[in-house]
Amino acid sequence: MMAARKDLPRYTVPSLTPEDGATVAEILQERLNSLTDLHLTLKHVHWNVVGPHFIAVHEMLDPQVDAVRAMTDAIAERIATLGAAPVGTPGALVAARTWEDYHLGRATAIEHLGALDEVYQGVIEAHRKAAKDTEELDDVTNDLLIGHLHELELFHWFVRAHLESAGGALSTEGESTELGAARKAREAKAG
Ligand SMILES: [Fe+2]
Repeated sequence: MMAARKDLPRYTVPSLTPEDGATVAEILQERLNSLTDLHLTLKHVHWNVVGPHFIAVHEMLDPQVDAVRAMTDAIAERIATLGAAPVGTPGALVAARTWEDYHLGRATAIEHLGALDEVYQGVIEAHRKAAKDTEELDDVTNDLLIGHLHELELFHWFVRAHLESAGGALSTEGESTELGAARKAREAKAG
């Protein structure tokens, strides 16, 4: 038997136990951290992209920033609806996150797109896992996360379409780091 949680909500949504409400809220807090990090990172890229494709990437990113920011609002409000307290402060995010800060500063469009391919890969994998983990616990949270995935995976494709050859191969294939993907995307463009 698991030890009792110290921070069980005093109420949660009808038909969930307080324990399940707390578990779902914990899963959502991690997604809140991840997507807050993502919309800030996308804005950082919006400001730091340079080179011939500046305007295309600069302008492609703002609707993604807005959409991801709206997702964080929905996640935080779901946490509150479940009877828990969403944590939205920057210090708490940095203390809790398990990934490193985005690695590129001022760089060309193709390098940022290569790195963003890795960023979206990580965010989407974790979001899909959270959707799976809430499937049995809470249909409404599961539906919320699936809804986000429709958009997140579309945005990932917008990024990847820049890295794709006419044969359908990605220039970042086989890379798992932002800097490695940025380098491969740059080399493929030069070659
Ligand atoms: Fe702007």
